[in-house]
Amino acid sequence: MSRLTYTNRVITETLRLYPPVWFSTRATSTDTELGGHPIPAGSMVIFSPYQVHHEPRVYHDPYRFDPDRWEPDHAKATPRTTWIPFGAGARKCIGANVGIAELTIALAAIVSRWHLHPVPGEKVRPRAQAVLFPQATAPDRATTSLSSITSGALRVRGAQGRIRTPLNGTTSARPRPSPFRPR
Ligand code: HEM
Repeated sequence: MSRLTYTNRVITETLRLYPPVWFSTRATSTDTELGGHPIPAGSMVIFSPYQVHHEPRVYHDPYRFDPDRWEPDHAKATPRTTWIPFGAGARKCIGANVGIAELTIALAAIVSRWHLHPVPGEKVRPRAQAVLFPQATAPDRATTSLSSITSGALRVRGAQGRIRTPLNGTTSARPRPSPFRPR
């Protein structure tokens, strides 16, 4: 897996652009100050990894998908606390390495067998829920496919590319047009 450097850059950039945990909280244990604002002990501070990840002072052209920002030289210059899809500090996600390993294996397995194409006419944008989900303009078709990918639960069967989503436990009864085309 360590040789899949470009796959890793794609995943790093995807988690920057669309951190599934788009807001988080911390409680202050002492009186403190943030950006000149006094914050008393016992306050809840809400912050957004999504906002941090789109900060133009850190990321040039922040809304552009550019895996090459994570080439080793560029990556070194990026402060560690400005890429926080797994949080930071003592309560950082305990499953970060497992999550990255799952994403790497799933993405490498999919793109080595399939060409992925956006469904013509569809626009996918993030939908803010407790975690970020992609939202497509035709929810019946593209959202199902994409949520399957993001949940790591994609199954593609046969050349028709029919998709089963363990999210809702159903298999599509009728074949749906698939965004996946076999090589
Ligand atoms: C892409 C996948 C994942 C993302 C984006 C993610 C993200 C996060 C985030 C943002 C936090 C809060 C960290 C903080 O407050 O600083 C968290 C906490 C946590 N995550 Fe994940 N996570 C992922 C996968 C996993 C996996 C695979 C596991 C288990 C194997 C896991 C287990 C946990 C646990 C137990 C905590 C609570 C840690 C604590 O409070 O001490 N996560 N995760």
